[in-house]
Amino acid sequence: MSDGIDVGRLDEIDEGTARVIEPEESGFDEPIAVFHTETGCVFALDDTCTHEEASLAEGWIEGDTVECPLHSSSFDLRTGRVLCLPATQSARTHKVEVADGRVVLYPGVDAEDAARVGE
Ligand code: FES
Repeated sequence: MSDGIDVGRLDEIDEGTARVIEPEESGFDEPIAVFHTETGCVFALDDTCTHEEASLAEGWIEGDTVECPLHSSSFDLRTGRVLCLPATQSARTHKVEVADGRVVLYPGVDAEDAARVGE
């Protein structure tokens, strides 16, 4: 299992937004989007939409889903599952934890569940 990396303070990611962790920061081969939802959860998915080149971090986060800003496919942040066309492939998830107010990301480790703020 890969080691977790500290990607910053959770309060630096406003609720309902996401931050992109670039490969040079994570050592992973793709940018990863870390989402902080208004329901108080933190999730991480590959940032690039599985349909074309769009950043999911720039999409609309609603509950535990994100809608791609380019053609409006939406993805379940919990599982990465694609919920509507035109994308047909699910997004890869990454494990993320919150410890002492800091976000710890495990690039390449499938998420089992959301990190809840305060746990
Ligand atoms: S690029 Fe995301 S749905 Fe087309």
